Amino acid sequence: MSGADGGGSPPTATRRRLLAGSAAGLAAGGGAGWWAGARGDATSTPTTPTTADPTSPAGASDDGAPVAARGRRQAGVDRPVRPPHHLSFVVLGEQGDAALGRTDVAALLAGLGEQVDVLTTSGDPRLPDMPGNLTVQVGVGAAWADLAEPGLGDRVRLPAFRGSDALAADLRGGDLVLAVAADDPALPDHVVDLLLADLPGLRVRWTQRAFRSPGTGAVVRNPLGFLDGIVQPEDAAAMDAGVWIRDGAATDGTIGVVRRFTLDGAAFARLGADEQAAVIGRRPDGTPLSGGAADADVDLTAKTPHGEYLVPADSHVRAAHPSFTGSALMARRSYAIRVDADGAAPRPGLLFCSFQDDVRVFARTQQRMDRVDRLMDFATPTAEIGFLVLPGFAPDRPLGSTLFGS
Ligand code: HEM
Repeated sequence: MSGADGGGSPPTATRRRLLAGSAAGLAAGGGAGWWAGARGDATSTPTTPTTADPTSPAGASDDGAPVAARGRRQAGVDRPVRPPHHLSFVVLGEQGDAALGRTDVAALLAGLGEQVDVLTTSGDPRLPDMPGNLTVQVGVGAAWADLAEPGLGDRVRLPAFRGSDALAADLRGGDLVLAVAADDPALPDHVVDLLLADLPGLRVRWTQRAFRSPGTGAVVRNPLGFLDGIVQPEDAAAMDAGVWIRDGAATDGTIGVVRRFTLDGAAFARLGADEQAAVIGRRPDGTPLSGGAADADVDLTAKTPHGEYLVPADSHVRAAHPSFTGSALMARRSYAIRVDADGAAPRPGLLFCSFQDDVRVFARTQQRMDRVDRLMDFATPTAEIGFLVLPGFAPDRPLGSTLFGS
């Protein structure tokens, strides 16, 4: 085993440049690059609102303007570039004995796609204040993926991680995922209700309201006070290489993973600044402990004169670094949550959200974190699901049709 597991061999994966709209941008107000248009500062290229090429990140809206639901790929992964500030995440399951067949699911998804198209397009009277940058991302869990294509569920299903076995059955997996996001805080829950009204035969397994700080591009300050989302696939080519599925009926979909964690923010705060940075491997402004700017990659080989790693062996960025799992980069768009449990004081939490073309990229990373990552001592999983984000849809290609027919 290498690196934090004892050895320390240098990372071999090609290091990526960070997405612009990164930590350096947040810290210094500068920066440019693939999604510089997202930055909304004086140095950025003005953003082109939505629809010119709705499948192109460069053409994606970041100014609160409508985001096209239709396209080769669904919104919500890299469109809009800056994730909306508010999210309602919903996991639904079939009602006990009322298992849906393939044609039922095909009809359900096609109808859902039409609803999403109407809701996200200006002019729906049910949203009199207009949709803004509302996005509704639709995914299916492992059982429905298997219904589409036997064996596809294996590309979606999460293995058990540390803490998974303590979760109630409803809090692991599910059949249908709706991720409804918008800058307008009043929209996501309302839109979820509108969608649920047309989804008879399914029940809500769990739901989570979540939010992101203003941030810059995909980078925000997380509930522990650290910039999060710095290291991401660098451009459309990197998204193609590691995020979008490129083969079979699920082409132009992606594998979504959401794990909900409570965070022991009080215990983390008691550590003090240096220890906190040692747990993460970066300082709160993003600066790597191996040196360099806030948006620099961490140098996992850098050592002190005494031979200790500058980025500690049990730090999060070392544990999660893709070089140890031989993976491409996952795209991360996590949200903060507030957890009110049994009348106890509210606690912070994170709705971790990632997208990758292979669930094993996430699984291997999480398994490694479970073994070596000190951050996991401050995080307790409370729900989790792997799901297939369906390919995009169009009038002649209903949502889900490449997988379920229609
Ligand atoms: C439990 C709560 C978590 C918190 C508070 C957290 C926080 C952070 C922070 C502050 C960074 C450094 C800045 C950045 O590059 O974005 C980071 C990096 C990263 N995290 Fe997390 N994270 C959490 C969970 C996870 C999980 C569950 C995974 C995946 C299994 C993950 C994967 C990554 C990856 C891949 C990086 C980039 C590492 C690199 O290549 O430098 N994180 N995280």
